[in-house]
Amino acid sequence: MRFIAGFVTAFIVLAIAGLALVFSGLVNIAAREPHSAPVFVLLQTAMRQSVARQAAKVPAPAPSTDISRGFRLYNETCVYCHGAPGKDPTDIGKGLNPEPPFLPDTIQHWSAAEILWIVKNGVRMTGMPSFADTHSDDDLRAVVAFVQKLPTMTEEQYAAYEKAQ
Ligand code: HEC
Repeated sequence: MRFIAGFVTAFIVLAIAGLALVFSGLVNIAAREPHSAPVFVLLQTAMRQSVARQAAKVPAPAPSTDISRGFRLYNETCVYCHGAPGKDPTDIGKGLNPEPPFLPDTIQHWSAAEILWIVKNGVRMTGMPSFADTHSDDDLRAVVAFVQKLPTMTEEQYAAYEKAQ
């Protein structure tokens, strides 16, 4: 009984301390202030685990061969934040916190189903938008196929896609 009373008291004290912290305004929400290392690791882990779990519930997308459609969407919509071979992200991408990953370097860590889930649903409380309501499934499957090519794509190949538009 004593143990339970102690536990409940500790919980109430922690909840009040948490609320006091929120209402005090002491939490600095400036995007240019980096998260502390433990908070950053915690948020990144939560994101990765959540995407893995959610994406496992949906079937892997049928691979798209419409690479030029995927390029168009990527170059119109994603490149500002994520960059591309020979292209740095713009000021918008550079100013976000968390900073959008440079996809040619990171995309190989994600399966096609996970990439499709991220692009459809977005990532809450980050700059990563949801494209489910603005783009068809075929568009999104095409962009998944395109981003999976980024790690081996040269600057010249990306520029050639741009020229071909
Ligand atoms: C306004 C900026 C912005 C735009 C536009 C944007 N993203 Fe993102 N994206 C982000 C941010 C920020 C993250 C990091 C989220 C996180 O770390 O939790 C992200 C994460 C991702 C990830 C996970 C990558 C990783 O290694 O963690 C993928 C895949 C992705 N975006 C694909 C896309 C695609 C494809 C498009 C275009 C259809 C797109 N994004 C458009 C900001 C953006």
